[in-house]
Amino acid sequence: MTQRVSASYLIATLQDARARTLELVNDLDQEQLMGPKLPGVNPLRWEIGHIAYFYEFFILRSLYGHDSILGLKADELYDSIAVAHDTRWDLPLLSMTETLAYMNDVLEKVCAHLVNKNEDGLASEQDSFIYQFGAFHEDMHTEAFIWGRQTLGYPSPTFSIQSNVDSQRSVGSWPGFCKSSWW
Ligand SMILES: [Fe+2]
Repeated sequence: MTQRVSASYLIATLQDARARTLELVNDLDQEQLMGPKLPGVNPLRWEIGHIAYFYEFFILRSLYGHDSILGLKADELYDSIAVAHDTRWDLPLLSMTETLAYMNDVLEKVCAHLVNKNEDGLASEQDSFIYQFGAFHEDMHTEAFIWGRQTLGYPSPTFSIQSNVDSQRSVGSWPGFCKSSWW
């Protein structure tokens, strides 16, 4: 059972996850967005498209019956179960501009489904679950972007929310990302 949460909370959660994703890719050039073929990382341009695909697949397509914005290409490009890891660099991926537009379109559409659905402002239990599932999936990938950037020797990203907890250990969770000494 998932506790019902407000639609505004879900939208803010999705927007927060998206802001973090964009902070992790916006400073990279086209070459960096693909990077070398390595077992422990994904091409970032593939990975951000996959994030949008995940919301689209589980919310817009499976729950609400929409067709994919990308048509058949969506599954062929961004289904992480069907698309083998070492083939992701060689796919006819969307350009970065197209990928960002796809991500934005999906985000707008999933948020539109939440607006004014219930008088009490609460999302349904099903929506409360699946929207947070999508956002946590995106958050998991932003963690992967961080290790990917470190693995590839890219510059440290600039986060809008960043806490320095070097002097405070074992104090529980903190908002945003923490800059640690290994970065
Ligand atoms: Fe994923």
